[in-house]
Amino acid sequence: MADPRIAVIGGTGAVGTVALRLLRKRGYDDVRVFASARSAGRIIEGLTVEEATPDALAAGDIDVALFSVGTSASRELVPHAVRGGAVAIDKSSAYRLVDGVPLVVPEVNGDRALEHDGIVANPNCCTIPLTCALKPLHEAAGLGRVRVSTYQAVSGAGAQRMDALRREPVDEHNVGVDWSWEGDETEEESKIRAEAQKIMELPDLPISANTVRVPVLVGHAESVWIETEEPLSAAQAEEILRSAPGVQVVDTPTPRDAAQTDQVLVGRIREDRAAERNGLVLFLACDNLVKGAALNAIQIAELILARALV
Ligand SMILES: NC(=O)c1ccc[n+]([C@@H]2O[C@H](COP(=O)([O-])OP(=O)(O)OC[C@H]3O[C@@H](n4cnc5c(N)ncnc54)[C@H](OP(=O)(O)O)[C@@H]3O)[C@@H](O)[C@H]2O)c1
Repeated sequence: MADPRIAVIGGTGAVGTVALRLLRKRGYDDVRVFASARSAGRIIEGLTVEEATPDALAAGDIDVALFSVGTSASRELVPHAVRGGAVAIDKSSAYRLVDGVPLVVPEVNGDRALEHDGIVANPNCCTIPLTCALKPLHEAAGLGRVRVSTYQAVSGAGAQRMDALRREPVDEHNVGVDWSWEGDETEEESKIRAEAQKIMELPDLPISANTVRVPVLVGHAESVWIETEEPLSAAQAEEILRSAPGVQVVDTPTPRDAAQTDQVLVGRIREDRAAERNGLVLFLACDNLVKGAALNAIQIAELILARALV
């Protein structure tokens, strides 16, 4: 497929605008942008925004539909794009845990993208970098347990929250928990566990997460504690991560350094002094709008488009 017809649905949002920029950078010319009726007629990245109606999405002139709208809008609109013959790559949580829908991080389980039945789900913006770092360590020594604490940028909550942070003075005490609750966990905490288990195909891996929003514009950071089945030194883990796809080992990963880069920055890899055995600690940072969302979805599209060429 020489010039795939790509639609970005949610193209006025935090993730959608980054997707449009990345598509242009990667040389895609046949790109359309959709959003709600509120934005129809606006110009974004030189393209006129169209209203994402069921009929427009089902018209049969879209090969790949990159959805970055909220969960309820995805539930409503994705089936229409699929009905029209598009492959839908959805960044909301609507389909991530649905049986039979691949949940894909290309560096971790890219082959699964080719098993789609019209929909591929893009994982949560913390799960993507986490699994990029965990998978190679699992292959080397077997993961026994994972604990993660996140420090998540405001852009993870959308363009309006970014605008609010830009407008309002930064409150350095503004560390918060702005997700809805599922029992005594945030939904973000349970998503990280369930999605990482699905992507790595380790349904019984114990994972616990603590998610926190911090007053940073772009770039999620995560502290990660792992225990492995086999001994793995910090030096060995670092060596493995140096050759892991999508990962760049640095001394001290920060959101500032990760912003607008494609890589997951991983560093501060060391022995976990509190673990009973085989414990390591590491820190990572990743642009939540790039590899955490838009880039990951485009990479999934490229795996599927490459298959269409064979
Ligand atoms: N931000 C992140 O770091 C991140 C990372 C991974 C996944 N995600 C997921 O990606 C999705 C989008 O997130 P975001 O941060 O980009 O949100 P956002 O900045 O609030 O943007 C939402 C986009 O969806 C559009 N939209 C909303 N309702 C719609 C409807 N009924 N029909 C058509 N378009 C509609 C909006 O269009 P209007 O401008 O017309 O309102 C806007 O373009 C969410 O599901 C989110 O969970 C976000």
